[in-house]
Amino acid sequence: MKGIILAGGSGTRLHPITRSISKQILPIYDKPMVYYPLSVLMLAGIREILIISTPQDIHCFEDLFGDGSAYGLDISYTVQNAPNGLAEAFILGEKFIGNDSVSLILGDNVFYGRQLSSLLQNAANIQEGALIFGYYVNNPSSFGVVEFDGDMNVLSIEEKPTNPRSKYAVPGLYFYDNQVVDIAKSIKPSPRGELEITDVHKEYLRRGQLKAELFGRGMAWLDTGTYDGLLEAAEFVSILQKRQGLYVACIEEIAYRKGLITKETLLNHAESMSKTDYGRYLQQIAEEELR
Ligand code: DAU
Repeated sequence: MKGIILAGGSGTRLHPITRSISKQILPIYDKPMVYYPLSVLMLAGIREILIISTPQDIHCFEDLFGDGSAYGLDISYTVQNAPNGLAEAFILGEKFIGNDSVSLILGDNVFYGRQLSSLLQNAANIQEGALIFGYYVNNPSSFGVVEFDGDMNVLSIEEKPTNPRSKYAVPGLYFYDNQVVDIAKSIKPSPRGELEITDVHKEYLRRGQLKAELFGRGMAWLDTGTYDGLLEAAEFVSILQKRQGLYVACIEEIAYRKGLITKETLLNHAESMSKTDYGRYLQQIAEEELR
């Protein structure tokens, strides 16, 4: 399975912070926002990753990750010229996806919680159809909303409905078989002028191939779309890391624990950040194994 991180958009809801910098590069506590979705793809076992961003911002991501080899990954980059909708990712990524299955994660979606890794690994094994998630929220009207029957079959899916049929929002993490490319090409822009991811899901639903799973109470799906959301996400990460001494979305640690990079490479990362707690944490991870 391949992975796409969609990290474009105009970021207008966070102006003036994002007037000259990509939203997905902003810090959430001690690391750039994009580390969080990247860590999710890594935990799913995905190594070939395409990052899509705007013509102005794509270089930020290239500077940050290069070809990905420092993390045991293969990362490539594509530009989205205008925010034409989430589903455009599959059209822009057609060559990258090839004949594979693919996961899409939005560059501003942060997930953390119990059993996330095993849930992701199962999701990445999808053979046919599409898999989305449902997350109970207070304000479903702000999101894609999925409705289930008693057996967890999807009954409907709607984008930002005024009268939502359930309280389950659809987070920005999706898994698909290869049909997604043709489906994305077949849908038409919505009244707001975007190729809607929800229209892709509606087509899978029509084909009887849309599955949805629930993220339980123990899962955090954090909002980074407002000033307060950014601050609260930072506090969440800071509190967890200080309490447990274990880092959230530490991509170097994940790469090392998954055997994607050597101890030497991990120590090089640690050395390059030796003045920070982050660097010291990496050093500690490397030394743990030596004991
Ligand atoms: O966060 C989950 C929600 O994301 C889903 O529940 C909705 O179904 C889905 O449509 C989407 O809704 P949003 O209104 O939050 O999408 P937004 O336009 O804010 O875009 C989400 C991220 O994707 C944002 O960081 C910008 C980026 N983006 C967006 C568009 C439209 C792109 O990179 N390119 C785009 O063309």
